[in-house]
Amino acid sequence: MAAIMARMKIGVIGGGFVGSTTAQRIAEKQLGDVVLFDIVDGMPQGKALDLAQAASVYGYDSSVTGANDYGPLEGAKVVVITAGMPRKPGMDRSDLLKVNGKIMQEVAGSVQEVAPDATLVVVSNPLDVMCYVAHLVSGLPRKKVVGMAGVLDTARYRAFIAEELGVSVKDVQAMVLGGHGDSMVPLTATASVSGIPVSDLIPAERLEELVTRTRHGGAEIVQLLKTGSAYYAPSAAATAMVESIVLDQRRILPCCTLLDGEYGIDGTWVGVPVVLGSGGVEEVIELDLGAADREALRASAQAVRSGQDEVSAMLGLS
Ligand code: LAC
Repeated sequence: MAAIMARMKIGVIGGGFVGSTTAQRIAEKQLGDVVLFDIVDGMPQGKALDLAQAASVYGYDSSVTGANDYGPLEGAKVVVITAGMPRKPGMDRSDLLKVNGKIMQEVAGSVQEVAPDATLVVVSNPLDVMCYVAHLVSGLPRKKVVGMAGVLDTARYRAFIAEELGVSVKDVQAMVLGGHGDSMVPLTATASVSGIPVSDLIPAERLEELVTRTRHGGAEIVQLLKTGSAYYAPSAAATAMVESIVLDQRRILPCCTLLDGEYGIDGTWVGVPVVLGSGGVEEVIELDLGAADREALRASAQAVRSGQDEVSAMLGLS
């Protein structure tokens, strides 16, 4: 028999709902062989076995294996980090900072040891601050650490606009910038449907309501679920980012990256449009924002900055 060419290895840390659904989507799209890691004995192995058996019906060749130690992640090219506690009703994402900061410190350091070439796609909350921790702990260049939030927040914004207009979400183009929190910045001026400005189709007050709903899109789902938070849209968003990296699609997606003077922001992790390709964040795109959006982005970055300072003090990072 011919030798089997190895597929690219893709790690997923955390076998909860977001992690396991991300593993499923990656396998179904055959983006690579998946290693699902979790500290809970048997859980990632059980989920991996289930996903491997689903392949017979669904027809994918990607393998999925489970692990409780980092060894099997050796040589991974992309590692999606979802590890951490999800929000409970009434909790702010920053309430998670302490517990998830420690988890991210441990995970990012361990992944770096076995897969030093991997691009890290951070999903754990509070997202922007967790990117900061992953970057400092791993020592990776900024382009190799990227956070998933803008794609998710934008997905929600696009879904609300499509629902409002009764049109296909495929034709809705929009972008949400800023931190993954209440201060996020859904752009209204550039939102469009097949090239038609959304502002021509939806009255300003109504559009503002959709913007507010977008800002609280995650909390709306937490309230409904009562235990845990969203995972279908978060895993879809993370998978789109993995796909853009693995296939070097160079998609322009809103992602959390370390700003180095762009938008007048320095040393802070915040969501802006980037070109996502095989090297990670290939380029940061600086939009010519109106004064209000620019100010809102700076305020959002300021909120992230306080979280960065808090977690630094707590974990002794610098
Ligand atoms: C959300 C959580 C995952 O936005 O932050 O659904």
